[in-house]
This record gives sequence, structure tokens and C-alpha cells, in this order.
Amino acid sequence: MSTLEDFGFDTLKLRAGYDPADHNFSSAVPIYETVSYAVGSAENYDNIAAGVADGHVYSRCSNPTVKVLEDRIAALDKAKNAVAVGSGVAAITYAILSLSEGGGRMLTTEQLYGGIVHSLDSIFPKYGLHVDKVNNYASIDEFEAKITEDTKLIYVESVSNPTAIVSDIDNLSKLAHKHGIPLVVDNTIPTPYLFNPIEHGADIVIYSATKGIGGHGAAIGGLVVDAGRFDWDSPKFPQFKEKNIAFRDLNGRDRSYLEAFGKDAFSAKVRSDYLTNFGAALSPFNAYILLLGLETISERIDKEVRNVEKIVDFLTHSEYVEWVSYPYLEGNKSRELAKKNFPKGVGQLFSFGIKGGEEAVYRLCRNVKLFSYQLNLGDSKSLIANAKRSTHGVLTDSELGLAGIPDNTVRVSIGTEDPDDLIRDLQQAFEASAFEVSKKAG
Ligand SMILES: Cc1ncc(COP(=O)(O)O)c(C=O)c1O
Repeated sequence: MSTLEDFGFDTLKLRAGYDPADHNFSSAVPIYETVSYAVGSAENYDNIAAGVADGHVYSRCSNPTVKVLEDRIAALDKAKNAVAVGSGVAAITYAILSLSEGGGRMLTTEQLYGGIVHSLDSIFPKYGLHVDKVNNYASIDEFEAKITEDTKLIYVESVSNPTAIVSDIDNLSKLAHKHGIPLVVDNTIPTPYLFNPIEHGADIVIYSATKGIGGHGAAIGGLVVDAGRFDWDSPKFPQFKEKNIAFRDLNGRDRSYLEAFGKDAFSAKVRSDYLTNFGAALSPFNAYILLLGLETISERIDKEVRNVEKIVDFLTHSEYVEWVSYPYLEGNKSRELAKKNFPKGVGQLFSFGIKGGEEAVYRLCRNVKLFSYQLNLGDSKSLIANAKRSTHGVLTDSELGLAGIPDNTVRVSIGTEDPDDLIRDLQQAFEASAFEVSKKAG
């Protein structure tokens, strides 16, 4: 596969990073279920460790099945490198820690997946990383006003969980580069199929592969993807210049990440300092499951987006619904950007507000029969959740307000079922809920 860059997305999603001739002509990617590798000799080990020979030594650091997933996602994102890890949260954490060694500040928005908000508010500050947040995600001026000498990165979700707002990656990347810092984009919700952050200037892309990449709700995994363009030779990032014993060359000389890897220093650091030493490795079996899911990503997501459009249309005309947060709707703040940058859709996730407040959310979730109450998203099956108490349950009331998650928010992730069945399910659940209310009233 020497001409990978000539192939389109749908070819790469099936073939990139894998040549059957290198694996006993196995058509399916083999699961290399091994802890370590019989490298043959101490000399060969030294060569692999020093980076002068290819190979794997221990599956916490790298594994051939996992590598296919890494190379395939890098090809889909037109990136230089990808490092797969055990979950999306591990990918976010390792990326942020690699960039903020020694402490500093990170700039982000109020519109983030709830799980990471807790780390940003309560855990990272204990390690010297403090977080600044813009209230208006659409205001590049507000981002710029909050950049300080100590800001090490800008971090956004390309499409936010659960409100599906869209970030302006082109202008955010220009702003980040003007200030000598990288733009990190969590692209979990659109997946590489609907949006390529690197083409819009992002330096680092994060995935929870658990979601639309796997697409079947069967395996947890994450990836840190590196465009390989950022110049790490900067006083802001001394960690890339420090000599590191892990990169001792064959003459016994320690090297820095910059010396050993140049523009690839960031992904090398994520793998060698964080994955290897902190250990959230992706299992080869999960990599295999995620690769299987990836084979149908375009077909699944196209169907999911078509289903979303029908369900959004149903909800915007429903007497039981107060608001729908979906970027293509008239009046939505993300509309122009969504139309420009996301012509095929933003993904399967959106939120709506049900009339009757949080009690109505509970009633609806109780009465649906086809939608299942789950915290995942991007599954082929349709899911429903009370975001305020679940995925975003660690946000304070004020954070919920700023994130656009009022009490009556219902979060849905739409799958590939028959859309008429999904609409019928919501309608019967609205009616059953209304009946419960009227029965209670008297
Ligand atoms: C946008 C986003 N990023 C990251 C994650 C975390 O992923 P994981 O569950 O694979 O750790 C999630 C989980 O819901 C998410 O929605």
C-alpha cells in the first residue's frame, strides 16, 4: 500500500495499515494476543528499543493488531501518527498531561463531555494544570482574551456532547498558532467520516473509539492522533528537549524527544512516557472489534444522520417538546458553520427539551420501549439519557446552565433502526407520560 494518499475514505477504512502478505495472507486482521515478543536476540531488542529496527517488544507499548487500528485512523485523518489507548478518557488525559508537564493553563469551553469536566475542575488543578473556559464558544475574541503566557493548549470538541454545537476549528487553529500553542480537538462525535479537524488546522485529534468508530457499543478504546506539524522546539514545551533515558541510542547517548523524533515528538511522548508508564493499553481484542466496526462507518453514519433528520423533524413539530438543539435548524447558533464544515451531518447525538421539566425527562425515559437508557453514544442502537444526572452528572448547576443543559434536557443518540419505529416509540412514550400526569392529577 505505497499510494495510500491516493485512496478515498471508503477504501482506507477497509484497507489502510494492513497488508495480508505480511500476516500469512489472513484477510481479517489477526488478533495478536500476546504479552511480549520473542525478539530473537539481545542485539535485536537493543535495535528495536533504539528505534533502528522495526518491531514490538511488549504489548503495553505497542501491538501489531493495535497498530493496524492506529495506522488506519491516522490514514483516515490524514495524520502522521496515532496512538491507541484503553479509552477515550485515557486519550484525553494523556494528551493533556503530555502538553502541560510542569503545570500551566489550558483554554477550553463550557461545552464538553461531562466526564472530562470533572478532571478539569477537580483533578488536573492538583497537578498544577489550571483551566480557563470561554462562555461563548463562538467568540474567537473571547478565546484570545483568555490566552495567557502560561497557556499550553486550546482544547475543544468539534461537535459538543450533548448539545451538538459546532466549534470553529479553522479560526481556533489560527489563533492557537498565533500564540505558539497547539489546538487539540476531540472529534469523537463526528468521527473521521464526518469531519477532519487536521484539514482545518488542528494539531492533535482525540477519539473515544468506543463511540462512532466502533459503532456497536461492544468495545471501549481511544486514540490520540498527531498531525505531525507542530513545532515543539519552543520554550513553552521544554519537555520535548529534555534528554530522556528511554531514547538512549546504541552508543549509550540519551536523546530528547525532539532529537529522536522531530515533528513526531508529541506522539512519541504520548506512547513512551504516558502509555508505556501509566499503562492504559488497548487490548488487541478490542482493537480487532473496533476495526470491524470501522469497516462500516460510512454506511452506518449516513443512515444514522438520515434517521436523526427525520426524528429532529418529528420533534420540532411535537406538542410535547419545548426546544431541539440540532445545528442545522433555523435559529441555531452553529447553523452556518455546520452547513459549511459538516455537509454530511454532525453525527448521531443531539438534545431536546421536553415540556414539564426534569420529571418529564424521567417519565419519558421510563416509557420508551425501543430507545434504551444508556450513557454511550454512536451505537447502532438508539439510546436515551438524562444528561443532567448521567453523562453530565458532575457539572454544577452553573456549569449546566453555561453548557446549555437545562433541567428538561433529553439526550439521544440515534442508531440505524427503522426511523418510523423510533418516532412511534417516542410518540407512544410522550402519550404514556401525559397519561401518567393526568392520572396523578386526578
Ligand atoms: C466527546 C467524548 N469524548 C470522550 C469520551 C470518553 O470516552 P470513553 O468512554 O471511551 O473513555 C466521551 C464519552 O462519552 C465523549 O462523549
